[in-house]
Amino acid sequence: MEPKSESKAREKKLIFSGIAPSGTPALGNYIGALRNWAALQDEYDCIYCVVDMHAITLRRDPAELRKKSRDMLTLCIALGIDPERSLLFYQSHVSGHAELAWILNCFTYMGELGRMTQFKDKSSKHEDNINAGLFTYPVLMAADILLYNVDLVPIGDDQRQHMEICRDIAIRFNNIYGDVFTVPEAYYGKVGARIMSLQEPDRKMDKSETANPNNTIFLLDDADTVISKFKRALTDSGSEVRFAEDKPGVSNLMTIYSALTGRTMPEIEAEFDGAGYGKFKLAVGEAVVETLRPIWKRFGELTADKAYVDGVIRASAEKASAMAEITLNKVKDKVGFPA
Ligand code: TRP
Repeated sequence: MEPKSESKAREKKLIFSGIAPSGTPALGNYIGALRNWAALQDEYDCIYCVVDMHAITLRRDPAELRKKSRDMLTLCIALGIDPERSLLFYQSHVSGHAELAWILNCFTYMGELGRMTQFKDKSSKHEDNINAGLFTYPVLMAADILLYNVDLVPIGDDQRQHMEICRDIAIRFNNIYGDVFTVPEAYYGKVGARIMSLQEPDRKMDKSETANPNNTIFLLDDADTVISKFKRALTDSGSEVRFAEDKPGVSNLMTIYSALTGRTMPEIEAEFDGAGYGKFKLAVGEAVVETLRPIWKRFGELTADKAYVDGVIRASAEKASAMAEITLNKVKDKVGFPA
């Protein structure tokens, strides 16, 4: 993808999305986001970013953060993000993200940041480290997006509020300085946007899960681990495979199965009519293993080919920096920084 010059309009709409390297990505991230990222490349120009700067709002072990960032980026390629068509890089490699974030901080109010449910949530979980970065997290996210003047931002439902504040900041800035930023729209994937924990189906499957690994299918689990986690998945009372509010465990497994096989809920109910939970859970586990097998293979090959992945990271960051600089120069000029 080339930086858009003033004279040459982009033919396709532009997309940006980010994923934090805060754990090994989980099946929920795959179904809700990552596999859409790959599919979107057919229709859009795409910029994908491993947001390592967002990750340090919580305390991280440096070696672990470095490894998780690398694994996340490698996994993105294994999942079908094609570096020939899309940009894929680390947020910290393009300094424009931090620069724009500072400027946008000055156009964002404490009150609006204080209303963010993710901030309230994370600060209640990490009372010993309620840092300013955690508070201004949505401003950095807005900078990620506005830097590239993208049209669409694929996100999960939990990022709805952050997307709203990003739009508010863009509109506010444009109202003062003229049309500087494209005001982006959120893009919500079609199916299975929300995959829940296998043991506690009333909360989201979390890639940062550490308390009980059986809650989460990590994309780099091996086949036996995946099958055993599904065998242990919490089901509900009764024995029928039925999609219903009073059956959150079974319904979640059905959502996973449906997302991976394309079958509808009534088709799944018919398929497992009278089969019992044991057989159903095994079938879901096997469907997940079949989906992940080619990804594991590709991940292994890519991990062995360090030079190739290094090249992707470098080339993408260079192109992203060139695009970012166009916006950043405009913004700096507007606010009155000397040329
Ligand atoms: N905050 C997002 C999340 O937790 C990750 C993210 C950072 C992001 N910057 C972004 C997503 C820009 C979309 C666009 O999922």
